[in-house]
Parts: sequence; C-alpha cells; structure tokens
Amino acid sequence: MFEKKHEMIRKLAREFAENEIAPRAQEIDKTGEYPADLREKLIKSKFHCVTIPEEYGGCGGDYKSAAIVTEEIAAKCGSSVTQIMPNSLSGGPLIYFGNHEQKKKYLQGMAEGSLIGAFGITEPGAGSDASSIDTVAEKDGDDYILNGRKCFITNGPICDFITVFAKTDTKAKGVSGISAFIVEADWNGFSRGKNEDKLGIKGSKTSDIILENVRVPKENLLGREGQGFKICMGVLDSGRITVASQGLGLAQGALDEAVKFTKERIQFGKSIAKFQNTQFEIADMATKVQCGRHLVFNAAHMKDSGRSYTKEAAMAKYYCGELCNEISYRSLQLHGGYGFIKDYDIERIYRDSRIVSIYEGTSEIQKLVISGMVYAGK
Ligand code: CAA
Repeated sequence: MFEKKHEMIRKLAREFAENEIAPRAQEIDKTGEYPADLREKLIKSKFHCVTIPEEYGGCGGDYKSAAIVTEEIAAKCGSSVTQIMPNSLSGGPLIYFGNHEQKKKYLQGMAEGSLIGAFGITEPGAGSDASSIDTVAEKDGDDYILNGRKCFITNGPICDFITVFAKTDTKAKGVSGISAFIVEADWNGFSRGKNEDKLGIKGSKTSDIILENVRVPKENLLGREGQGFKICMGVLDSGRITVASQGLGLAQGALDEAVKFTKERIQFGKSIAKFQNTQFEIADMATKVQCGRHLVFNAAHMKDSGRSYTKEAAMAKYYCGELCNEISYRSLQLHGGYGFIKDYDIERIYRDSRIVSIYEGTSEIQKLVISGMVYAGK
C-alpha cells in the first residue's frame, strides 16, 4: 500500500515534528497562540498543502501522504493539525468543487501561506443535524445576500475566507436547497464571535462567524446552486480521514509517553516497565494503535484509488476518535500523579484527544453512517 515516497514523507514529517514542533507544544498549549516563526517554517516545509494541486502551488500529493503528515504532527502537538487544514476542510471545497478562477484566487493563497480558510456548516441549531441550517442566501441581481450565524468554526478568529453553506431555496424539500459560497472576511457585514476558551487544542482558534447582509458575487458560488449539501458531505468524507489520522497520531503520542515514563519510573525497587500489568497495558495499547493505523490507511488507499470510501472513512474516524481518548486515558493512568500535572506531555495529549470523537461528525454520527451503509449492502 505504501510506496517509497510515503516512507520519505513520513521520515521528513517525523523529523520536522520532533525537531520543530515538539519543543514548542507546551508553549502553544499554555499561550493559546501559534508562534509566527513556527507557522512560517511549516509553510516552507509545504506540509500544509500536500493535497493542493501543483498548478496552484501545492504538492499535488495523495491522501495517504496527507494522512501520514497529519499523524506525525498530531503525535507531537494536537493544536498544530489546524495549521495543515488546507489539506482537508479549508482546501477541500476548492480542490474538489472550485473552478479555475476560484482555485487560483483562494487555493494558491493558502499554498503560499498568505490566506487562511475555514469551513462553515455548523450553526447553533444545526450540529449533528447538518442539513437543518438557517443561514440563507437570497438572490439579488447577480449577487447573493447572506444572513446567518455559524458556530464552532476552526480558524474563525483568523480566517481570510470561509466556505459558507446556506439555503438558496428555503422552500425546497430535504437538502436540495443548500448551496456553498466562498465568503471573504473583509466584506461588509462579516464579523466574528469571541475566541472560544476550549478544553484542548488551545493553539487552534475557534469562534462564531456572523453574516449580516453580506453581499456575495455569483462568482463565489461553489459548484452549482443546490449542490451545497453534497459538497459538504463529500468534503467531510475526506476530512474524516485526516481527523482519524489526528486521533491516530495522538494515540501514538500517548503510547510513546507511556513507554518512556514506565521505563524511567522506579517503584517497589524496579522500573514499572518490569511489571506484567504495565507490559500487558503496553501490548494492548500498541495493538489497538496499529488497528487504527490500518483503518486510516485503508480509507486513504480507497480514496486514492478512486473507489467509494464513505464507510471506510467513517470507520477510521469512529475508531481513532475513540482510540486517542482510550490510549491517552490509559497512558495517563500509567503515569499516576505525574500524568495529572502540566509538566508531563500526557496531560496535554489527554485534553487534546477529547475533541477528536466530536468534531467533523461525532462517533455517534459515524456509527449512523456505517450502519446505514452496511444495511444498504455497501
Ligand atoms: N457524499 C455525498 N453525498 C452524500 C453523502 C456523502 N458522504 N452523505 C449523504 N449524501 C447525500 C445523500 O445521497 C442525499 O442525497 P439525495 O437527497 O440526492 O438522495 C443527501 O445527501 C441527504 O442525505 P441524508 O438523508 O443521509 O442526510 P441527513 O440529513 O440524514 O444527514 C448525516 C446525514 C450523516 C447525519 C449528516 O447530517 C452528517 O454527517 N452530520 C454530521 C455533521 C458533521 O460532521 N459536522 C461537522 C462540521 S465540520 C467541523 O466540525 C469542523 C470545524 O471547524 C469544527
């Protein structure tokens, strides 16, 4: 499944994560700010634009490569994953559904590092039930006038543009009245809510986005009118592979911390790694992490080979979302009291893991998607 290029990408991403990101992870968590110099280095490395086509300044890489990079970065710092979002939710709508002009304007900017994007489906009344959005886009001559409020938007406080899902036809049945628009942050009527104070991934900024009579030119309609929900679901399918990779990386990071700590910690006259309970815990954790890895790369392989991968992406997201929570819990338990203090990385990994089974579709939504497809014989 892996080629030489994937081994090379893993080596480069691991070196970057170990040398550049890991030493800053505590600082990022504590300050809630992403260091500008580190962002610059990340942009230079091009890990943020693995899946953006070369024509628009990216690497033109496959999804396996994006998953590898996400896994390696998340293993050292959960917050840093937001910096490589152009590979998934901020770039996805344009990569898969944008026209040449839209790609040239927005994708190229993200690849260069001059633009930050965001993805706006969720609203106060539309979370898991994504199609029940209230944001409307009314036609006015050649433009659309957008009104509504999006919430929990990753990059909300700092984005330069956002893909907004809004109803162009409020009377249409089901999801056929939803359309997608690229909305720029400096347009009149665009504003942001407060930066949310979160439990984890504190270096990733989150806020509401408020749209009050925002005039959007028709050139910024993504795809066709009424295609918005399918765009949203299609992009989320691929995004779920990268979120699963994030969960996998966090789980691997938690396992690495457990191995390191249990070798060093002496109790009852010997290293606690010498106790069978510890050995069984490590064996169990390592086996589960490897299962997660197989699910992630199976889904990425299906996507890269042009096959349907909705079920496989949901399985990877479901499993790895739960996996990082479980492995970080067990690793913290092996750390004892030391795991509960901020001097040890596992305290941060434990908090950073909590979001993975929630965002880009909760574990429960993934189970709905999986069972729906199993019943349909897919
Ligand atoms: N790809 C393409 N089309 C799809 C699709 C997919 N994966 N899944 C569904 N569709 C299509 C269906 O074919 C159907 O089309 P037709 O009407 O033509 O048949 C249409 O979409 C409606 O499908 P459903 O009836 O299944 O839709 P639903 O309203 O029952 O919702 C759901 C299904 C799976 C529950 C969906 O609402 C969902 O995924 N909810 C979770 C939302 C989510 O993941 N939110 C995360 C937000 S992003 C985020 O978290 C990032 C951040 O910044 C924090």
